[in-house]
Amino acid sequence: MTKVAIVFHSGYGHTKVVAEEIAHGVRNAGATPILLEIEGPSQDFKPLLEAATEADAIVFGAPTYMGDISVGLKAFFEASSSAWYTGAWKDKVAGGFTNSFNASGDKLHALMSIFVLSQQQHMIWVGAGQPASSQGTPAPTFAVDEINRFSYSIGVATQSDNASPEVTPGSGDREFARRYGLRIAQVTGKLTGIL
Ligand SMILES: Cc1cc2nc3c(=O)[nH]c(=O)nc-3n(C[C@H](O)[C@H](O)[C@H](O)COP(=O)(O)O)c2cc1C
Repeated sequence: MTKVAIVFHSGYGHTKVVAEEIAHGVRNAGATPILLEIEGPSQDFKPLLEAATEADAIVFGAPTYMGDISVGLKAFFEASSSAWYTGAWKDKVAGGFTNSFNASGDKLHALMSIFVLSQQQHMIWVGAGQPASSQGTPAPTFAVDEINRFSYSIGVATQSDNASPEVTPGSGDREFARRYGLRIAQVTGKLTGIL
């Protein structure tokens, strides 16, 4: 069965919700999600790296802090140089997601950091695959129940306010994440022929 690793850091639980919704979407495709949470930058990354290497696809996620991925994911990326040396992640499917407080909040920069890592590792990037919520309407409303309300194409970008992760990010962001998990699993299944 297709295995999709979801490697993520989440300081306060909001990005974790997005990771869990992506896992939900992976399961909806009939594939197996493996949630790998990064605790912080100084942990031993070996177990996470081994688990990610066993998967057919790896989706990376982090909150946007100071306009980029949080340091936990950055440290994991540096540790992944071991996979770079051996080419262990070459031709695995890759994807990315980020969450921040602001509508923009420089989330694109965080997604670009994830994309660049995937290309350093010679992976196959899968974009959002979901039209912007404004597509076909006169003006976007950015309502929390809209799917891809900030019109990201590179990956999943979601927004949370300072309320509990139980209520934010909103329903549209959660559905966006579920659809992305489904897409990642389906594309991976097509490439590996084992879904
Ligand atoms: C150190 C720090 C830096 C932040 N920088 C940004 C930022 O650049 N843009 C933004 O929109 N929100 C920023 N925020 C808000 C976080 O993005 C938001 O609270 C976070 O996505 C919540 O996710 P988490 O609960 O998974 O940590 C920052 C928060 C912290 C703690």
